[in-house]
Amino acid sequence: MHKLLVTGGAGFIGANFVHYWLTQHPQDRLVVLDALTYAGNMTSLAGCLEQENFRFVHGDIGDQSLVETLLLEDGLDTVVNFAAESHVDRSIHGPDPFVTTNVVGTHSLLKAAKKVWLDGTLAGRPHRFHHVSTDEVYGSLAPEESPFTETTPYAPNSPYSASKAASDHLVRAYHHTYGLEVTTSNCSNNYGPYQFPEKLIPLIILNILEAKQLPIYGDGLNIRDWLYVDDHCRGIDLVLQKGRAGEVYNIGGNNEWRNIEIVQLVCTLVDEKLAASDTLRQRFPRSPVCLGHKAESLITYVKDRPGHDRRYAINAEKSRNELGYAPLESFETGIRKTIDWYLLNEAWWRGVMNGSYRDWLEKQYAH
Ligand code: NAD
Ligand code: TYD
Repeated sequence: MHKLLVTGGAGFIGANFVHYWLTQHPQDRLVVLDALTYAGNMTSLAGCLEQENFRFVHGDIGDQSLVETLLLEDGLDTVVNFAAESHVDRSIHGPDPFVTTNVVGTHSLLKAAKKVWLDGTLAGRPHRFHHVSTDEVYGSLAPEESPFTETTPYAPNSPYSASKAASDHLVRAYHHTYGLEVTTSNCSNNYGPYQFPEKLIPLIILNILEAKQLPIYGDGLNIRDWLYVDDHCRGIDLVLQKGRAGEVYNIGGNNEWRNIEIVQLVCTLVDEKLAASDTLRQRFPRSPVCLGHKAESLITYVKDRPGHDRRYAINAEKSRNELGYAPLESFETGIRKTIDWYLLNEAWWRGVMNGSYRDWLEKQYAH
């Protein structure tokens, strides 16, 4: 039995991980620590809060004494660190919180883990500090270049990826210098339920339903390697079970798509869904299909993101060979599941898309 501290567990991947873990490892205890920023939503944890082996704590990973208390009070042996500022566009407009949470916050978490697991009363007990990172730390690939491996040199280009790279280095250093038992996973772009609708796939789905423009940055030919979020959670599970301390594991879907192709695919699938259902057309009467148009008519090319990375792609051979990792979901099934989830969970996305998010989005597309 393990006792985990899941930071950022009310965010997109964190919440999916919590649901995944409670199903796969019902004997384990989970404590979620989340600051509930705009990206964290308690409703994403519906159904977990009532479970005896689950506890939610509203707090900041930068609060070292709180983290120490949690690790001690609950006798926790594992940290899985999802907590972060995660949106590249926000990092361009306001990098400060990215440094505060991703760099300084992760360092606080490392200090707390070191104090409790290496220096304190629990010293000598088995422990694991798993840090969830991104392929964006490796920079941008040219079309002919091979996908990122774990030894690709770091070359982060956005304040977001630079802050994640800094945190990855701190995690590595705490292993090398102090012997903290750490692992890090670098994953490609995730999609699936509970993703905040500022990221490409949910933004496109919801904008179609509300007949808003589908903004394509630049020429739309940037490439991302998309992975269904449950496959990321399974990858982290394998790293926790079989990964070697001090090692880094890439997790990816071998699933590269140009942005414009993704947007066109989502348009086609949402059009099909609405065309086939009177109920959906009644619920989303502004959607183009209800007026005899195609969702693609909403596609609008907008000014490119500054410093926009051209291509990401992950080589997950090490995870496959050492851990037996392979994604289970095909893109065909994963994208359909995701669209269905957003169609079924209107209360969730209406709940998260209010206030500051709307203001921010409107400013973003004012050009
Ligand atoms: P998210 O923005 O949806 O969620 C982040 C969560 O962290 C939120 O619940 C937020 O409230 C919480 N949080 C933020 N600052 C905090 C703080 N100081 N203390 C405690 N909690 C705080 O992010 P996500 O997409 O779920 O990403 C989770 C992790 O996975 C991040 O570290 C991200 O870098 C990494 N990652 C994301 C992707 C992706 O495609 N989304 C891909 C690879 C890696
Ligand atoms: P995003 O979901 O923000 O993830 P990341 O920047 O971390 O890869 O964006 C995915 C890709 O889609 C990226 O190349 C930027 C592009 N994009 C758009 O073209 N339009 C949009 O409205 C958004 C949010 C992203």
